[in-house]
Amino acid sequence: MPLVLGIESTAHTFGVGIASEKGEILANVNSVYRPIAGGIKPSEAAEHHSRVAPVVLRRALEAAGVSLDSIDAIAVALGPGLGPCLRVGATLARYLASLLGKPLVPVNHAVAHIEIARLSTGLKDPVVVYVAGGNTVITTFVEGRYRVFGETLDIALGNLMDTFAREVGLGFPGVPKVEELAARGKNLIPLPYSVKGQDVSYSGLLTAALRLYREKRYSLEDLCYSLVETAYSMLVEVAERALAHTGKSEVVLTGGVARSPVLSDKLAKMARARGARFAAVDPELAGDNGAMIAYTGALAYASGLTIPVEESRVRPLWRLDEVEVPWRRQTSAAIT
Ligand code: FE2
Repeated sequence: MPLVLGIESTAHTFGVGIASEKGEILANVNSVYRPIAGGIKPSEAAEHHSRVAPVVLRRALEAAGVSLDSIDAIAVALGPGLGPCLRVGATLARYLASLLGKPLVPVNHAVAHIEIARLSTGLKDPVVVYVAGGNTVITTFVEGRYRVFGETLDIALGNLMDTFAREVGLGFPGVPKVEELAARGKNLIPLPYSVKGQDVSYSGLLTAALRLYREKRYSLEDLCYSLVETAYSMLVEVAERALAHTGKSEVVLTGGVARSPVLSDKLAKMARARGARFAAVDPELAGDNGAMIAYTGALAYASGLTIPVEESRVRPLWRLDEVEVPWRRQTSAAIT
């Protein structure tokens, strides 16, 4: 069984995973950069990645109980993400591929979140709700690719929650902190509910929530409750339309915010009302991780998808719907 080593470094996480195409995860070792104050600083995150890379790589090999020689291909998340961070993972991947004389496999980070969710939940052809610190996308597989059926027009859902939590002194990560207070909220305060066609916009919601916080007109519990209800309902509305439009019968939640029990519950209710199955990715595999890059790399490698080292430039803005997904093409007729 070919083994693929995957490297993740698109944002705050540096991770190395080792996996097979059949979905065996032999290793998943990750190290997360945490800024002391404020948001992620790309150069500091990249510095963190460079520092921890040798240790993370060694621990992953130890966890899998394999040597570098027994790895068949090196996969790397080439995008989307922050340039300085992406370059750390790409440099290590190129080095390993050249040193070992093994093929290099390009992986799109968003596709990896989707594939690990399908593996983890067993759902075959779901509408995917991918929500994280830097991404908010509703997507599903149609005619050979993951097509986008809605996304944020400005900031991501995770970013909205993290920024709000930080500004009101709740700390990081934002989602669990805001949800904890939201559970004690009772009154729904009107906040901007901004769905434009199939897209959502969260920046106006963030501005309004912070303004109300500074005006001290409402309790923080009520404000958190209203923020959660408004932000999540926008996403559920768009996901429901994508489900209706595509006629699919499954919904999966993936990405760092997939650990949210509140969002899971809302999506589960929507799916149930439409006769669809719902599942969220395993919390261990929800945030950025090396295993999802290794597994998606293994799928790609089994489909013959490799890239010469000299063409392996990083792609900070690599869109999900630009990516070839040959491993699903063979089975798409039976699935969709
Ligand atoms: Fe991610």
